[in-house]
Amino acid sequence: MTLVAYFSPSGTTKRIAEILAKEADASLYEIVPETPYTTEDLDWNNDYARSTVEMKDLDFRPAMADTAAPVDTHDTILVGFPIWWYREPSIIDSFLDAYDFTGKTVIPFCTSGGSSARDATERMRGLLGEGVNVLDGAHFPASVDEDTIENWCEKMGLDD
Ligand SMILES: Cc1cc2nc3c(=O)[nH]c(=O)nc-3n(C[C@H](O)[C@H](O)[C@H](O)COP(=O)(O)O)c2cc1C
Repeated sequence: MTLVAYFSPSGTTKRIAEILAKEADASLYEIVPETPYTTEDLDWNNDYARSTVEMKDLDFRPAMADTAAPVDTHDTILVGFPIWWYREPSIIDSFLDAYDFTGKTVIPFCTSGGSSARDATERMRGLLGEGVNVLDGAHFPASVDEDTIENWCEKMGLDD
């Protein structure tokens, strides 16, 4: 059983998460912050914007609206997010902290303005520890089409 869990404050990753869930016949769960990010919060050109301040602190864990993701009942968890400051947003770290992923396979996927999934994948491996199989993360362009996502699911063995 596959779960697609995603965070997507401006909708780009959400579109891909929805297609992935359809192609992989997976459950879909949105990681929602307790306090949603406003447009001002997401202004990476502003040193004092919420996201800038939060992302400078590697230990910061923003509160989530709930901890009801059905992680327990799924073996493979796709975790989707936009790249923020070359890595996963802090709320993804909140998500990883909140559940027990021991024995499960985690597959990161991301969208970005160009940065790859590499640094996020490495950090997520470190946070989850050795008992979790974190596969190399996938990066999808914002304009990726359904066929490409379908082919990726097939390649990853997620199409059944
Ligand atoms: C606070 C913030 C930081 C970002 N940092 C990066 C970055 O380091 N590298 C990059 O390529 N894109 C960066 N981006 C662009 C986003 O990754 C990109 O727009 C993403 O597709 C947005 O996904 P969403 O619509 O699901 O939120 C950043 C965006 C925001 C809001």
